[in-house]
Amino acid sequence: MVTERLALVTGATGFIASHLVPALVSAGWGVRTCGRRPRPAGLPPEADYRAVDLAGDEGLDGLLAGVTHVFHLAGASSSRSSEEEMRRDNGQATARLFDAIRACPTVERALHMSSTSVYGEAVQLPLPVREDVEPQPSRGYGKAKWEAEQVVWRHGDEGLPVVVLRPVSVHGPGAIKLLASAILDVAVEQFLGLDRVAVHSGPIEQRLVHIDDLVAACLHLAEHPGAPGRAFNVVSGVYPSSHEVAAILADHFGMTVELDDDPDCGPTYEERQKGWSAMLERGMKDEIILTRERFRFMRKANRNNRLSLDNLLSTGFELRHTEPGTEFVADAEWYRQQGWIL
Ligand SMILES: NC(=O)c1ccc[n+]([C@@H]2O[C@H](COP(=O)([O-])OP(=O)(O)OC[C@H]3O[C@@H](n4cnc5c(N)ncnc54)[C@H](OP(=O)(O)O)[C@@H]3O)[C@@H](O)[C@H]2O)c1
Repeated sequence: MVTERLALVTGATGFIASHLVPALVSAGWGVRTCGRRPRPAGLPPEADYRAVDLAGDEGLDGLLAGVTHVFHLAGASSSRSSEEEMRRDNGQATARLFDAIRACPTVERALHMSSTSVYGEAVQLPLPVREDVEPQPSRGYGKAKWEAEQVVWRHGDEGLPVVVLRPVSVHGPGAIKLLASAILDVAVEQFLGLDRVAVHSGPIEQRLVHIDDLVAACLHLAEHPGAPGRAFNVVSGVYPSSHEVAAILADHFGMTVELDDDPDCGPTYEERQKGWSAMLERGMKDEIILTRERFRFMRKANRNNRLSLDNLLSTGFELRHTEPGTEFVADAEWYRQQGWIL
């Protein structure tokens, strides 16, 4: 067992860290973690936990003492944060953390969890989008993530070995938004007694990556000699359409898909919320986000949807969870086992 590697994982109360921390512990790393809320119940006992606001006034030197590798996952997304919070918890928090990392002599490598949202959707980029393109973020989240990334690159230019990961929407056990919200939508409609899942007739191409592949990529890039100074798109490489996603979920719930020319087809928010409340009364746990817009993550076409995987694959990394039919059904089964859907 290797004991000299000490990882600092930020964002430890979040979804991705809830998978990354156990994986690091299993691989023999020493692990220190931080978030703002109290220590999460599921964190492995081997992992140290500290509550700290990275964008606040508290000094961060103690957090970094002896750390060899930083996995910077903390950040705020548009699902639950305002534009101001997104800038604070991405840009400001990253700037404070990376200043502290630069001052810490033991850090050998710093991985930063960015997002493909930095590419934006307003400007057509050459496809498939490569990591060396100039990002053109178009929404608040993408702008906040790009602000944070630029901080990281500045430190990289000054000699810090930095690695940037740009995942797409991440799905898998424990996820509470995006595909998880779509699974909840179908579960609610089944609960309401519907036998058809209405979907807009214009297909929209999706992009996702499974949490296990993202975690494996983090561990791989933390040690690969060719990783520092580079960014890596992380996507399954398979691009199902909104119709295919709906068909997989409908089939799993014993329903059929109905294509509709109305983009706002299906039950209204009020109807869905009523079903959802009744499910909570029946014992469903309130974990997955019920979005006001039905199938929110599948609604917007992205002209920059296709991403190059050349950087990641050139390091010898292999994606393993690339079969949507298998993976999405496994997610739905996990949610049911946990009581996150009925
Ligand atoms: N999930 C995805 O599909 C996805 C896709 C692409 C990129 N990413 C990026 O991956 C990272 C992790 O995502 P996730 O889904 O695990 O996020 P998450 O579940 O929303 O968790 C976010 C984490 O960041 C922490 N945090 C936020 N602001 C902080 C601050 N000022 N100081 C300290 N901690 C702070 C939160 O702490 P508290 O909750 O304790 O406040 C929480 O632990 C994020 O940077 C996100 O932008 C995620």
